[in-house]
Amino acid sequence: MSAGQTAAVSGDPRPGGAAGGGAALGWPAAASTHPGRGPMTAPVGDLSRVMDVSGRCVIVTGAAAGIGFGIARAFAERGATVAVLDIDMEAGRAAVAKLGLLGGQHLFVACDVSDRGMVRRAVDTVHAAFGRIDVLVNNAGINAVKPFLDMDESLPEWHRVIDVDLHGPVNMTHAVDSKMRADRQGGLIINISSVGGARCSGSKDMPAAGYVAAKAAINHLTVSWAIEFADYDIRVNCIMPGPTHSRLDEQLTPEMKARNERMILARRYGEPLEIGALCVFMASAEGAHLNGVVIPHDGGYLCVN
Ligand SMILES: NC(=O)c1ccc[n+]([C@@H]2O[C@H](COP(=O)([O-])OP(=O)(O)OC[C@H]3O[C@@H](n4cnc5c(N)ncnc54)[C@H](O)[C@@H]3O)[C@@H](O)[C@H]2O)c1
Repeated sequence: MSAGQTAAVSGDPRPGGAAGGGAALGWPAAASTHPGRGPMTAPVGDLSRVMDVSGRCVIVTGAAAGIGFGIARAFAERGATVAVLDIDMEAGRAAVAKLGLLGGQHLFVACDVSDRGMVRRAVDTVHAAFGRIDVLVNNAGINAVKPFLDMDESLPEWHRVIDVDLHGPVNMTHAVDSKMRADRQGGLIINISSVGGARCSGSKDMPAAGYVAAKAAINHLTVSWAIEFADYDIRVNCIMPGPTHSRLDEQLTPEMKARNERMILARRYGEPLEIGALCVFMASAEGAHLNGVVIPHDGGYLCVN
């Protein structure tokens, strides 16, 4: 993909821009109500293209599989161009091939989000290919279910989980936001944390100290970053998934999965594409006023746990 192609989609966040249904009825167009606001924060003027993200350039980390692939698919289905960043090169390339079947040109870049040098190079590669980055979804994550006191004294499981689940989003956000700030077009960061970041109710059966600590930190960072980045029209939101079908939940025993299902009001796991739909909403014109929010996506899990 050339930078010229992507430059053609910049400017008005929605194809047709202000010429939607609202304008036809004589209602004020979004861009004219707050001329000072950037494209990721402008108020919606009509609902003729609900959840349209055509022309947006989106990075999703850990998008080779699981929830990340559901998010990448949702963006691709709604017209965005997606960069898949993942450590799994084979699955990452396969994911991009599948996204290609939905239309558009998408990109795989090998990247371990815990490696700062790799993150910088990956973000440079995406920016050079797309000419801009509108949305970053910090999704890549791992878990290590192990009692804290059973770890050896160098705490390897703790350090690896913190490196990926906390320092990964930190590395990515610093690299991408530096581009967004320089480009002066605003942007959106979506962090994927976990209901485990809000409650430790599962810690008896599934002890995962590093995981819940990292996810709680991500919830808090979301608000801190939203405040700090608002001057650059960069919004920051967070989704806390409850139990969701993915490769991560394949690590659980059937008993653990059955227990999880009993703990969800909806009595079913969430699906990656459902989380993708929420991400697309946040990135679309309709979601432009959501900022600094930490939203559970859990079928009611947090109501009863
Ligand atoms: N599945 C759930 O029930 C659930 C619940 C709450 C939160 N989450 C969160 O959702 C996110 C996605 O999890 P999932 O369930 O889809 O997991 P998954 O294991 O199915 O997929 C994770 C993806 O991230 C990639 N990845 C792992 N380490 C990486 C690294 N260092 N750098 C780049 N990519 C890396 C993997 O290769 C894989 O493609 C995670 O942040 C996880 O904590 C999942």
